[in-house]
Amino acid sequence: MTHVTGTRALAGLFSAALLITGAQASEPVDADYQAFLSALGDAPWINANADHPSANEAYRPIPPLASFPADTAKRDLGFALFHDASLSRDGTVGCNTCHMGMMGGIDGLSIARGIDGELGQRNTPTIFNAAFNFRQFWDGRAFNLDAQSIEPIVNPVEMGHDLSQVLASLQADPSYQAMFAEAYPDGVTAANLGNALSQHTKDMTRTDSPFNAYLNDERTLSEQALRGKDRFNALGCVSCHNGINLGGNSYQPVASNFNTSLQYALQGEEGLYARSGREQDRLVFKVPQLHNVGMTAPYYHDGSVPTLQDAIRRMGAQEVGRTLSDEDVNDISAFLASLSSEFFSGSMHSMMSDHELEDAVRNQMPDRMGGGMMEGENHQQHMQQMMQGGMHQEHMQHMQQMMRATPDSAADSDASTHQHAH
Ligand code: HEC
Ligand code: HEC
Repeated sequence: MTHVTGTRALAGLFSAALLITGAQASEPVDADYQAFLSALGDAPWINANADHPSANEAYRPIPPLASFPADTAKRDLGFALFHDASLSRDGTVGCNTCHMGMMGGIDGLSIARGIDGELGQRNTPTIFNAAFNFRQFWDGRAFNLDAQSIEPIVNPVEMGHDLSQVLASLQADPSYQAMFAEAYPDGVTAANLGNALSQHTKDMTRTDSPFNAYLNDERTLSEQALRGKDRFNALGCVSCHNGINLGGNSYQPVASNFNTSLQYALQGEEGLYARSGREQDRLVFKVPQLHNVGMTAPYYHDGSVPTLQDAIRRMGAQEVGRTLSDEDVNDISAFLASLSSEFFSGSMHSMMSDHELEDAVRNQMPDRMGGGMMEGENHQQHMQQMMQGGMHQEHMQHMQQMMRATPDSAADSDASTHQHAH
C-alpha cells in the first residue's frame, strides 16, 4: 500500500516537473486556451445514449432528436438567422449558402467560397449531426457550436462582417429584436447570436440512416455493408472513427508521410497548431464524423479527394499503413453508405456517379491557384453550372421537386429572394 502510494507520489512529482519545464519551454498558455483545453462540446449531446446497451462497444446509435428538449423560440430564431444573408457584409452570403440542406449540409465545392466569390481555406464539412462532435471545425479549434457559430460571420473570406455592426442591425430590426427578446432575457448579444445559430445546427440532426436503425436492432444491413463494417473494424479504422459520430471525438495527426506533409505545407496548413501554438499540434485535426459521408464529396479538410472510394483508399495508406484491395474499398464504401440519412436518398450526390463527381471536383482545381475559371463568378451561378454540367435533366427536375418537398431546403432556395425568413 505505502509502496504504491510512494511510487504514485514520485510519479506525480516527476510529471509536475515535466509540466514545469514544458511550460517554460513553450509560450505561456493564455486563459482562453486553458478554458478551451477543459471544455468539451455540449455534454447532453456528446454523452447522448451513454446508457444504451451498445455504449461500451465501438458504436452507439444517435437517440431521436425529440430526446433533446429544444426551446422553440431559440430554434426558430436560429433558423431565421441561419438563412439570413444580411449577416454577411454585402448581404449575399448566409450560412445556408455553404451548408445547403439538400446537398447534405455542404456546398459540393472542394474549397468553400464566401463573399465576393473569395476562396476560403478549407472544404465545407456537413452540419448534419455536427452537434455530436466534441469540438468544431476540421482542426477542432472551437469547443462547441455556440463558439463556432460566430466565426463564419466575421471570417473575412466567408461572411466578412463586423460583429458589432451585425449586432447593431439585428437590434435595429423590430422583428429580430422581438424574437431575441422572446428567446433570451438579455436580448441581442453576441453570445445569444451564437447560441441561437447553434440551436439550428442541433436541429440538423438526422437519425434515420440504415446503420442507426441497425444499431437499434431495427433492421439488418446488406451482406456487403456488413462485410465492410468487419473490415473497417479489423483494419483499425474504428480506432479513430468510433462512438456516436464514428469520429468527432479525438484529435489525430494527418501527415504520416512525406507527400502529405509537403502537400499541406504548400497550402500553408498548420492544423490545430494555428490555435494552440504547440508544436505537437502541427497538422493535427479533429477526426471527422462519418454520418452522411456518402453525401459529402469532395473529402478531407482541403477537399482534395474526389470520391468516397479514394478517401477510403487514402485512409488505408495514410492512417493504417495498408494498401487496401478493391474489394475492401468497395465493401467499406457500402458500409459507409449505410450511414446516410434516408432523407437524402433522392439528393444530388446520391444521383451523381463517381465519375460525374470527380469531373465536378477536377473542374475546380484551378481555384486553388487563385485564378482559373471560377474567378469573379458568384457562388449561386457556379452551383447552377455544376448542377447543369454534372447532372442529367431528370436529375435537375428531381432536385427541384426535393427542394420544394423539404422544409429546410425550401428555405434554402428562398434565401436569395428573402432577406429575413420570418
Ligand atoms: C463561405 C462558406 C461558409 C459559410 C457562409 C458558413 N460556413 Fe460553416 N463552414 C464552412 C467551412 C469551410 C468550414 C470548415 C472551416 C474550418 O474547419 O476551418 C465550416 C465549418 C462549420 C461547422 C463545423 C462542423 C464540423 O464538423 O466541425 C459548423 C457547425 C458550421 N460551419 C456552421 C455554420 C454556421 C452556423 C454558419 C453561419 C453563421 C456558417 N457555418 C457559415 C463554410 C461556411
Ligand atoms: C489515426 C486516426 C484515423 C484512422 C485509423 C482512420 N482515420 Fe479516417 N480520418 C482521420 C482524420 C484525421 C481524417 C481527416 C483527414 C483530413 O481532413 O485531411 C479522416 C478522414 C476520413 C474520411 C473523409 C471524411 C470527410 O468528411 O472528408 C473517411 C471516409 C475516412 N476517414 C475513412 C477511414 C477509413 C475507411 C479508415 C480505415 C482504412 C480510416 N478512416 C482510418 C483519422 C483516421
